[in-house]
Amino acid sequence: MKKEIFAATLAMGLVTAPMAFADTAKGEALFNDKGAAKCPVCHAFGKKVVGPDLNGVGKLHTKPWIVKWLTDTQGTWTANDPETADLKKRQNKETKPKPAHMTPKLTEAQAGDIADFLMTK
Ligand code: HEC
Repeated sequence: MKKEIFAATLAMGLVTAPMAFADTAKGEALFNDKGAAKCPVCHAFGKKVVGPDLNGVGKLHTKPWIVKWLTDTQGTWTANDPETADLKKRQNKETKPKPAHMTPKLTEAQAGDIADFLMTK
């Protein structure tokens, strides 16, 4: 019995691990694609560019928040959930009405892949 559970867990791990890796790699490629997502124009890991340093961003945000931010920045800004309120505070933008963020239209799936990548940071 124990052996079977172990085998099943192992099999599941073998199936899910490469899938998770694929999403992260896709997200990283999208992030760095200067023609498409344009993230590196404003973001780097380890230093501030136009936007905040994204090192440690996986600890500041949840995946759903990142997907929402990338697909509906103004909506996220207006809804002002605790993660957004914290971002405004850190960016010292509490009194400014609009986010500086402009990302090209990303599909939910693309935003999800980028979020998977950022959650590893
Ligand atoms: C034109 C510059 C610009 C581009 C392009 C851009 N960002 Fe940003 N980003 C910002 C700024 C500035 C902020 C801080 C919020 C604000 O001022 O609107 C931010 C905030 C963020 C945050 C929240 C960071 C935190 O500390 O909480 C994440 C995550 C993020 N951006 C991801 C991305 C990703 C992924 C892309 C590419 C799809 C991208 N950004 C493209 C400028 C940019």
